[in-house]
Amino acid sequence: MVIYRASDYASMSRKAANIISAQVIMKPDCVLGLATGSTPIGTYKQLIEWYNKGDLDFSRVTSVNLDEYKGLSGDNEQSYRYFMNHNFFDHININKSRTFVPDGTDPDSEHACARYNEIIREVGGIDLQLLGLGHNGHIGFNEPGSAFEKETHCVDLTERTIEANKRFFEKEEDVPRQAYTMGIKTIMQAKKILLVVSGEDKAEIVKTAFQGPVTPAVPASILQLHNDVTIVADEAALSKM
Ligand code: GLP
Repeated sequence: MVIYRASDYASMSRKAANIISAQVIMKPDCVLGLATGSTPIGTYKQLIEWYNKGDLDFSRVTSVNLDEYKGLSGDNEQSYRYFMNHNFFDHININKSRTFVPDGTDPDSEHACARYNEIIREVGGIDLQLLGLGHNGHIGFNEPGSAFEKETHCVDLTERTIEANKRFFEKEEDVPRQAYTMGIKTIMQAKKILLVVSGEDKAEIVKTAFQGPVTPAVPASILQLHNDVTIVADEAALSKM
């Protein structure tokens, strides 16, 4: 596990964007596993800036996103599909039909998740998976207690996650209670993992996840067992390490 200590959010974003750029340059037809949340927004902005300068070409890249709220369609502003279009895909030359997000509109959880697992297999697996970190150690929407051996599945969100995400919705009742997420097994099968984390409010969980025991109670702790993980964090997030 390599940990980069960045001075602040901007330099964390630049470093993470550097690692993703290197992947795209080395393997133009790579499969990027992408993430939502506020943390990676700066990384996407930086990649867009380099793309606009002519330094990056996403035309042969495929992407698979970690998760999606069950019940939200891509035109709902709170859906993760909308987030990805708005914060990244609409600004680069990626082929939209090669960008995949679990289908939140499919009410049949088993079908939606099996289809997503199939897609990940069809594209040949993930070369580089970008991750954020939830306050309770969740990755994607794998909440504490998630079995490590799961692939894409439907989850009930915890109160803490609903609480953290409600700022994006008008009313707390509007926050979906369930989501489709890649499982820990799917994430662990990625060839490389890049986790971005920022802010003092994440310092405690960063310490617990990466210096504490590997346990399903802290889903991100499993990353200690992956052989190619890079954590890019700012000083504040590393302040308890
Ligand atoms: C959501 C997402 C996660 C993300 C987490 C942290 O729950 N499903 O993938 O990592 O939020 O988000 P933030 O980066 O906004 O703290």
